Amino acid sequence: MATEGSINGKVRVGVVGVGIGRLHLEGYRKHPDAEIVAIADVNEDRARATAKEFGISQVYTDYEKMLQEAHLDALSVCTPNSLHAPVAIAAFQAGCSVICEKPIATSAAEGEKMVRAARDAGKIFMMGFNNRFRGDTQVLKKFIEEGALGNVYYAKTGWLRRRGIPGMGGWFTTRAMSGGGPLIDLGVHVLDLALYLMGNPKPVSAYGSTYAEFGPKMPGGENYDVEDLASGLIKFENGATVLVEASWASNIAQETSYTTLMGSLGGADLSPLRLYTEMNGEQVDIQPQHPNINGHEAEIKHFVDCVRDGKQPLATGEHGLDVIKILDAIYESAQTGKMAAIS
Ligand SMILES: NC(=O)c1ccc[n+]([C@@H]2O[C@H](COP(=O)([O-])OP(=O)(O)OC[C@H]3O[C@@H](n4cnc5c(N)ncnc54)[C@H](O)[C@@H]3O)[C@@H](O)[C@H]2O)c1
Repeated sequence: MATEGSINGKVRVGVVGVGIGRLHLEGYRKHPDAEIVAIADVNEDRARATAKEFGISQVYTDYEKMLQEAHLDALSVCTPNSLHAPVAIAAFQAGCSVICEKPIATSAAEGEKMVRAARDAGKIFMMGFNNRFRGDTQVLKKFIEEGALGNVYYAKTGWLRRRGIPGMGGWFTTRAMSGGGPLIDLGVHVLDLALYLMGNPKPVSAYGSTYAEFGPKMPGGENYDVEDLASGLIKFENGATVLVEASWASNIAQETSYTTLMGSLGGADLSPLRLYTEMNGEQVDIQPQHPNINGHEAEIKHFVDCVRDGKQPLATGEHGLDVIKILDAIYESAQTGKMAAIS
């Protein structure tokens, strides 16, 4: 896709925020049709060191200036969560397609504005749901699409850490910047996986609980105002139910991440991938082979392909919006003690 400023017909990409943004840069570096043009980070030292490592000549501390000057086709939004909406909206308005790290935003209201801005600009809006691109996820998705599980009516999904609060005292543990704790950080990944595998049914209500038994008591936890464990039960228009749980700290044996699907004809576990069904009247467990795919790299490859070819991505802004609507509802329910409706 050639644009003003493009000299070789490649997709001109930029990255805002070079924490996880480095993985985006690795992905772009490997794509023959991507050209890394510019990066922006308010931490100038970090930005300059990253630019040197990746051989990037245009380095900014102000992402708006970068959007004005760098003539980008596509942008990775890899900032703290509260900046996803302003950065992505500015990018759409500057004529860029966007891949946004998870979660889409800190609230559904912000997410809606982002989806609208992408539509108004006619640009591609992809969510950075890297786990969808893993080999085991893709193989299971194919089994499900071919009917191996029948009607998937129930799923349990979670990511629980025994101890692992990220960036204590920084943006992760400050609600105004993160939107929440492990539910919006880790739960978002596994919830999206369950929704994706179930064909993205429409959520209608959620019930949830949150706890902060560790964070506020730990060194540096004086301003800790997010949960360290959350649990939610979500109901869908098609009658399906999903149970989600996430923790940064909990008294369990060890860190665990799981997604279990139950369908009318079969069930499945991800990580490790297993299918459970019946054959010849016997219960059988199936262990499919699957390629080992780096989800982050595959996600970036897919994004560049979509921008180059003008195709809809596998993980859209609308999918990100569905997830944040559910998270909003779980947080609301945890506050009120009542079921929260999702519209
Ligand atoms: N998909 C995944 O596996 C994954 C993993 C980690 C983080 N994430 C997501 O990526 C995002 C960033 O997380 P992280 O772990 O890289 O955080 P981080 O704090 O390590 O990095 C964020 C970077 O953004 C920069 N930044 C802050 N404000 C900025 C601004 N106004 N303009 C430009 N840069 C700014 C910071 O200086 C920092 O370098 C979050 O949304 C997080 O949820 C996703």
